[in-house]
Amino acid sequence: MSSPQNFYAEVGGAPVFAKIVSRFYEQVAEDEVLRPLYPEEDLSPAEDRLRMFLEQYWGGPRTYSERRGHPRLRMRHVPFRIGPIERDAWLRCMRIAIDEAGLDPAHRDQLWNYLTYAAASMVNSDF
Ligand code: HEM
Repeated sequence: MSSPQNFYAEVGGAPVFAKIVSRFYEQVAEDEVLRPLYPEEDLSPAEDRLRMFLEQYWGGPRTYSERRGHPRLRMRHVPFRIGPIERDAWLRCMRIAIDEAGLDPAHRDQLWNYLTYAAASMVNSDF
């Protein structure tokens, strides 16, 4: 298994992260559970934030923290009610994006395991 520090370079860097996150937000735009949660009409600023965060987490540029400070993601999600339905919708959109990204199975599984864990930790409602 790669360390998160090497993962970014191993999978192909910026274009791969851009592809995953852009495909994810294409799904969000169509998703009746998730779309209403996003406060802004334009999803592209949210897309930029998620992309920068994931790049940083996996050993790429640290632009996210330069612009946004410490991630504190659970706290940043408190304004949104995230229950099991929202978590599953988020993961459903992400699964499509990851499956289409062309990662080798080991990297794909590593990324997926992290995201399922992270999504569970963002849940802040029982319903
Ligand atoms: C922001 C929903 C899980 C990373 C947001 C926003 C919403 C949202 C509505 C605000 C959009 C914006 O203005 O940026 C959800 C839901 C999740 C989920 C429903 C289901 C569990 C995750 C996970 C991650 C993540 C698993 C990371 C692995 C982020 C980041 C931001 C964000 C980096 C921007 C934070 C900032 O800098 O303000 N999310 N999210 N989210 N989310 Fe999530």
